[in-house]
Amino acid sequence: MNTILDNGCVMPVQTSQAKTETYRRIPKVELHRHLEGSLRLGTLFDLARTYSVTLPLVNDLEKLVQVQGSDPLTFTNFLSKFQTLRRFFLSPEVIQRITHEAVVDAAEDGIQHLELRFTPVALSRSQDFLLSSVMDWVCSSAAQAAQERHISVRLIASVNRHEPPELAAEVAHLAAERIPQGLVGLDLAGNEAEFDAQPFARIFQEARQAGLSITIHAGEWGGAANVRQAIEVLGAVRIGHGIRVLEDPAVVELARQRGTVFEVCLTSNYQSGVVPSMVDHPLLAMIQAGLRATLNTDDPGISSITLSDEYRLACDMLGLPLVTLHSCILEAAEAAFLEPLERKLLVSQLRMALRGRVIL
Ligand code: ADE
Ligand code: ZN
Repeated sequence: MNTILDNGCVMPVQTSQAKTETYRRIPKVELHRHLEGSLRLGTLFDLARTYSVTLPLVNDLEKLVQVQGSDPLTFTNFLSKFQTLRRFFLSPEVIQRITHEAVVDAAEDGIQHLELRFTPVALSRSQDFLLSSVMDWVCSSAAQAAQERHISVRLIASVNRHEPPELAAEVAHLAAERIPQGLVGLDLAGNEAEFDAQPFARIFQEARQAGLSITIHAGEWGGAANVRQAIEVLGAVRIGHGIRVLEDPAVVELARQRGTVFEVCLTSNYQSGVVPSMVDHPLLAMIQAGLRATLNTDDPGISSITLSDEYRLACDMLGLPLVTLHSCILEAAEAAFLEPLERKLLVSQLRMALRGRVIL
């Protein structure tokens, strides 16, 4: 289908599918994606059959693991999906398979550099696997898939605020031992509304000294003070979400001075009730305030999205200019938890690939 413009030119009108395909072709960087929130629905059905996972009704599976249109838009509803997902981590093969599939799905979506975070405690809980074993399975499967699909992948170990700091300390220690295997960062996630990060301060300071890079979920379900705490106390160089930073100009200034990078996740923010509607999302305001913002998915399986969808949402719904989208991609590459030379190479490859892509 074509549109005739006032000047007589004929402009092709893209179908929705064609539009998403156009965004898929843009080379992308993903800094914030949870493995446990990235499972394919088809894989879950398959696993439910193979392992006889008893669910109230198999037909309910979709409702239990994906945010539905009729769901309450709250963080408790969003986090509740992980409770069902935890029941599927039943064997080393399952953990290897979901890791492999997460990398394959990222590659299929045109992601060139993926930082995949995973929660060893969540993966080990149902079968009492050793944390060290779970971490080894994820490291080796991610490396294999990355090699097969020719994409760059690094891993981030995630610990939850609402779980015991003693477990977090163990995960941090095991993560630092696996830096040579590509496990390069430590993240604090979970229930920010009800749990303070202070009990985790020493663990994160020591992890940083051990060579891990730090990213913290903050300013999502809690206020700007949590972003300050993440930067000043926990040593975060990146903030997961952080969109509520705008509530305090002093914290905006701190983040600007430090060059803190924000891992913004549009759909997740809407589905977990951080923003009342998508058009109210402050992504553009953050960029205008001089903050370094990147675009990410958070939990693509739970939200039923791809990173291409999020790029499209930012441009079509929020009015992000294409050149600014390109800047966000380069910002993400500059903030990647890579060795300096690897990072420089990624940035220059992306700069070349994006150059001249003025038209989608
Ligand atoms: N774990 C998975 N997704 C999360 C989010 N959006 N915030 C905090 N913890 C999470
Ligand atoms: Zn997250």
